Amino acid sequence: MTAFNHVPVLFHETIDALNINPDGVTVDCTAGGGGHSAAVLERLSEKGRLICFDRDPDAIAVLQARFGADKRVTVVHENYGSIAAVLSSLAIPAVDSILADLGVSSYQLDEASRGFSFHQDAPLDMRMSKTGVSAAELVNTLPEDALRKILYEYGEEKFAPRIAAAIVRERQNAPILTTLQLAELVSAAYPAAARRGGHPARKTFQALRIEVNGELAELPTAIRYMFHSLKPGGRLAIISFHSLEDRIVKNTFASFTVGCTCPPDFPVCVCGKKPQGRLCFKPKTAGEQELAENQRSRSAKLRAIEKIKY
Ligand SMILES: C[S@@+](CC[C@H](N)C(=O)[O-])C[C@H]1O[C@@H](n2cnc3c(N)ncnc32)[C@H](O)[C@@H]1O
Ligand SMILES: [Zn+2]
Repeated sequence: MTAFNHVPVLFHETIDALNINPDGVTVDCTAGGGGHSAAVLERLSEKGRLICFDRDPDAIAVLQARFGADKRVTVVHENYGSIAAVLSSLAIPAVDSILADLGVSSYQLDEASRGFSFHQDAPLDMRMSKTGVSAAELVNTLPEDALRKILYEYGEEKFAPRIAAAIVRERQNAPILTTLQLAELVSAAYPAAARRGGHPARKTFQALRIEVNGELAELPTAIRYMFHSLKPGGRLAIISFHSLEDRIVKNTFASFTVGCTCPPDFPVCVCGKKPQGRLCFKPKTAGEQELAENQRSRSAKLRAIEKIKY
């Protein structure tokens, strides 16, 4: 297996944003290789607790090996969308801080067999959980208009029509089963003049990965469950990796900060609604040094919200 050498982005900023209660409960929704989790553990007392989620069985094996002997840690092989149900099954009514470092890990990208990379040949898989419908099943079965829509929406790929048409043409000859088969097909479909800005398959691979893993579709509901799992005064910090993801985090957080919804000409408030959360700071991005050292930090954005204590 590829080494789990994930370099977390916005590391200190994220740990600070969590405002960790040493005796309290912290949840790492995307524990991966455990980089952020290890930093959380350094701040916990003997009484503190850390719940580590990941949907990837490879990450779970790494987390168990790394933290299994620490009595403060519970490793949970679940989608973070089930945070409320999992906490309830652990008899934890609410927690002090929650972290989500979205997207794929460097391990998932670097481990060729997972099929996320357009640089290395492997079965076209891309399933973080290793269950459900793979990228190969999507490209070989979806109607052309559905493929086009995914490439437009999740890849912001302006050549979506050409690429979708090329996929459908190719699969009539033979199924598209490997990463390089797809990468080469996309490159060939790309207009020569547009080939300068990075690998032509980058956006297509991003779009398929998002669709395969339901990354955007499930995010608003998952963020609501995370926020509702916080104690009053608790913090939720989320790192996103592209503008589509960040827009969801921003809008969902904004919905928690809305208070009174009475018409402006009402003399007094009759709805009684109060904001549930307050934003902790303006979104943070990587500084110059981190940008130079870690490719993944380029589009990373950290947002944090605190549940208001009334
Ligand atoms: C960017 S990595 C996190 C790396 C981690 N912060 C570290 O320091 O090593 C994202 C991780 O979240 C996991 N993940 C993504 N979506 C998930 C979901 N819906 N539920 C649970 N885990 C998820 C992925 O499998 C991956 O391991
Ligand atoms: Zn009102």
